[in-house]
Amino acid sequence: MSHYFDSPTGPAGPLGSVELQVGPRALTLRTAAGVFARDGLDKGTAVLLDEAPPPPTTGHLLDLGCGYGPIALTLAARSPGATVWAVDVNERARELCAANAEEAGLGNVRVVDDVPEDVRFAAIWSNPPIRIGKQALHELLLRWLPRLSDDGVALMVVQKNLGSDSLQRWLTENGWPTERLTSRNAFRVLRTTRGAPAPTTR
Ligand SMILES: C[S@@+](CC[C@H](N)C(=O)[O-])C[C@H]1O[C@@H](n2cnc3c(N)ncnc32)[C@H](O)[C@@H]1O
Repeated sequence: MSHYFDSPTGPAGPLGSVELQVGPRALTLRTAAGVFARDGLDKGTAVLLDEAPPPPTTGHLLDLGCGYGPIALTLAARSPGATVWAVDVNERARELCAANAEEAGLGNVRVVDDVPEDVRFAAIWSNPPIRIGKQALHELLLRWLPRLSDDGVALMVVQKNLGSDSLQRWLTENGWPTERLTSRNAFRVLRTTRGAPAPTTR
């Protein structure tokens, strides 16, 4: 069985499209088979985009698991002075996201499968790939959260019945203080920051 997070091979088939309103801008994004939410903006993603406070206007921002790019393009349109890194394991998703950013004239989006080691993120926004399984998800988050800047904030939307509360608990217990920013339509938006630095010992 193939999943949206596998890299699909073969022709993409007919492209779909998703309309995305970012402030005054109406963007049309292309989607395709083998990519998450190809038939329309995911409900969780919509909740995140509606509920999130304005992103930082400068610095580096990360969309972890960008798919065809609705979160990355929203960040880039709202924060033209920032660099938006869009990361996904799915090659077709990366191709679509890059093409969508180019079509929208958003030159501040960088679509990659990895980000240079020295880059620190002022914000991470994500509709994370819950379905890869708990252990893989935890590993993924522990790979990317340490790359938040000192005052960086990660916002993640998670469906309540896919374990948002246990993820919130796990993050907090593992040194990533996490609160619930909002709860809407069975989705929760979690807000994660760096824990307090360990006290210095003498
Ligand atoms: C729930 S989808 C969200 C997609 C898109 N951001 C949206 O809102 O429509 C999660 C995405 O994470 C990607 N993904 C899965 N495992 C990943 C990994 N290890 N690193 C980066 N992205 C991953 C999937 O391919 C998928 O595109």
